[in-house]
Parts: sequence; structure tokens; C-alpha cells
Amino acid sequence: MEKLLITGKQRLYGEIIISGMKNSALPIIFACLLVPDDCIIKNIPHVSDVENSLEILRSMGVKAEFVDKNTVLINAKYAKNEIAKMELVSKMRASSYLMGTMLSRFGKVDISMPGGCNFGARPLDLHFKGFEKMGAIFTEKSDKIQIKVNKSLKCSKITLDKISVGATINMVLASALTQGETIIENVALEPHVDDLICFLQHCGAEIVRKNNSIVVRGVKRLHGTEYTIMPDTIEALTYLTYLGITGGYLNLKGICPSHLECATDIFLKIGMSINFAQRSILAKVDKQLTGTDVTTSPYPGFPTDLHPQFASLLSFCKGGGSITEMVFPTRFKYVYELQKAGVQIYNRDNIAIINESKPHSAVLDATDLRAGAGLVGVALGAEGESTINNVNYIVRGYENLVEKLSSVGGKIKIIKGEN
Ligand code: UD1
Repeated sequence: MEKLLITGKQRLYGEIIISGMKNSALPIIFACLLVPDDCIIKNIPHVSDVENSLEILRSMGVKAEFVDKNTVLINAKYAKNEIAKMELVSKMRASSYLMGTMLSRFGKVDISMPGGCNFGARPLDLHFKGFEKMGAIFTEKSDKIQIKVNKSLKCSKITLDKISVGATINMVLASALTQGETIIENVALEPHVDDLICFLQHCGAEIVRKNNSIVVRGVKRLHGTEYTIMPDTIEALTYLTYLGITGGYLNLKGICPSHLECATDIFLKIGMSINFAQRSILAKVDKQLTGTDVTTSPYPGFPTDLHPQFASLLSFCKGGGSITEMVFPTRFKYVYELQKAGVQIYNRDNIAIINESKPHSAVLDATDLRAGAGLVGVALGAEGESTINNVNYIVRGYENLVEKLSSVGGKIKIIKGEN
């Protein structure tokens, strides 16, 4: 297992090019199962969840190869309904997208329970209910999911009981080739849902978003295309939390500034200066920021995937603050790790209360992807050298984290650990 060594108290100055969005790349990679031609996907982030998704597709007989560092060619013409690398399915939440794509392509799915970050219950009931509305029959046996349709999926009106990114994406994937009009209501509004829709439109799909509904008119066949993945909003916002902790300035390039507005209002409110340009933002911090209270909610609300990183930032802010978690109410495993670094943080129900603290160096264990990113933040601001174990969680979602932080003045390196 690799570890990160971070020497804190270094101000960050310079330019960071934001990578393609992991949570957009994953559904688009799995969507290629619906396309029997070459799909060239650009701006793919080199992170382990992407590698695992491509490996799952390869193990199904799909051609999936990098043509350059961030471009992948996928051709699923000869895909088989058989996953040789099933162990990878249980590592990632995004492998749930195999349900929508395999049901559509093969009429049958037989997979391990998708895994992913372990920050509380992550049910799939909304996905199953939606598939059942489309005529599928599902059985769940211990850690296995089996879903099948008698003939083919049928179009339907599906109202999601709760806003879910994954269920919205799975319904879109299942209906793109389903004859007739499928209406999906109460859908997630995240920009990466629209990125998937846009990719499928490029492949010939007929999909329209109307406010919080998506209307899919099933087509007979999708064709190959060339597509560029949208920039990673969570990666960009994570670097803003690091800047808030260390001070200095960061020019974040290759981004879509309007997608960051779900959180930039809060960064402005606590005292960060941000200049917005067309494809970049220039953020500056030359004084201690002032804490605040935030509440996570589905997009366009403050993202749950920024919760642990923002908690680290609040511990350095004047007066501290709080985070009320409304999407994953038990996302608090990181709290104990921050306490190890001297952060005065407490969790009650779905709220973290963070007092202004003087974090010190510590040996910390990443418990999931975003919790790990939060620990990087606290280590960047703490006096002395901190160690972060379980780097495998962090590399699931941050491309070249060490290189990017080093290039703007961070003192960070990755070393091999003994365990
Ligand atoms: C996706 C993201 C994850 C992000 C989350 C919310 C990926 C691979 N993961 O996860 O990083 O934190 O969106 O922005 O893109 N729920 C149910 N039943 C279901 C499905 C969800 O009750 O069948 C609940 C969840 O427990 C949670 C809420 O709905 O409370 C939202 O979850 P959802 O949007 O589905 O998250 P994911 O798609 O799993």
C-alpha cells in the first residue's frame, strides 16, 4: 500500500489543469456497451476507477485501449454477456451502470453487488424499481444481483421516489434503445448526467431534459462518435479548499466555471477572492478565511462530495463552522481522522460541528475517496510532516494529485508502505 507524506504550511501558487470528471467518464465508458462501433472518448482522467471500468469491459470482450494518455477507444461490437473480472464490479459503485447497459443490450444481468466508497448505506432500490417499471424482474441473493426481461425492456413513465444520480443515469442507459417514449421524473440535475445525455445524443440517441424530467425516445441503433468528457467540478473545488487552507493563489484551468457555482458562492462568502473567466478561475487567499455553516444537497446545492474537504478547510477558518449532510447522512468516518490531527470536530446526527483549530501533523488513514482528499487538506495546513495511509482510495478519483500539488508549491510525495 502506498502512503502520502505531506509537509504542511506551504502556500500554493500557480496553475493547475483540471482533469476530466471521473463521475462523468464512468457512465460514458459503460454506455459504450450500447454502441457497436468505435467510440473515441477524450479527456478521460487516469484514475483507478477508470482503469477498473475499462478492465471490466475488456473482460467482456470489448476493445478498450488508450490511444494517448487521456484518450480511450472503445468498441463493444463483440461484447459478451459474461464478466471475467467480476471481482472488479464489487470495488466500484459505478459498476451499477452495468445493470442499465447489460439489460438493454442482453436482456439479462448477473453481477456481484456493486461496491464503492463505504460512507454508509448505499441502496439500489430506486434502480430496481425503475427497471421493474420497464418490465424487468430482479432477484437479489446475498451479494449477487440478477435482473432479466422476458422479451425486451418496455418504455414507461418512471418517477424516482428520491433524487439519485445513479438511478437517473441507469434509467437513461436502459431506455436509450428501448422502443417508444420513456419519461423519467424527479431526476438528478448534476451536469455529469447531462454529459452522459450529450454523449448518447452524439451517438444518435433522442433524449431531451425538460427541467427535472428526462424524455427518452428509444432509437433502433446507436453509432460511434468522438466525445470529450466535461471537466471535474469536484477536483476543482477540492483544490479551492486546499488554497483556502494554505493561502496563495491558484489559476484553475480547463474548467466550466458555471458548474462550480454550487459551491463558489460559499467560498466567496468565507472571504476567498475568485475571478471567473470563460474556461478558468483565478482564486486568491491572502488572509484567514471566516467560517460558515453549509448544508449539502443534490445539485445545484452544495455537493456532498466536497463535504470532508470543506470540513478540513473550516477547521482553519475564523470561528469554525458546521456541515449538515443531507445526501449521505452517515458520511462522517473522516471525523475521527481529523481529530487525530488535532481538529476540534464533533459529529451529532447528520451534522459535523467544527471549531477553529490548530491542526498538527499526524498519521492518518483515508477511509474513502473524498475523506482521503479531506485529510490531504488538513495535512497541507498542519505544522510538520503528516502521513496519509490508504492512498488507493484517493487515486480512485484524483488524477496526478501529487504532481499537481507539487507543481504549485505543495510538499507532497508518495512512498511505498509496508502494509
Ligand atoms: C453518485 C456519485 C457519488 C456522489 C453521489 C451524490 C458516482 C459514481 N458516484 O453516487 O460520488 O456522492 O452521486 O452526488 O457518480 N439512494 C437510495 N436508493 C437508491 C439510490 C440512492 O435510497 O437506489 C439514496 C442514497 O443512499 C443517497 C441518495 O439517494 O442518500 C443519493 O444517492 P445517489 O445520487 O444515487 O448517489 P450515487 O449515484 O450512488
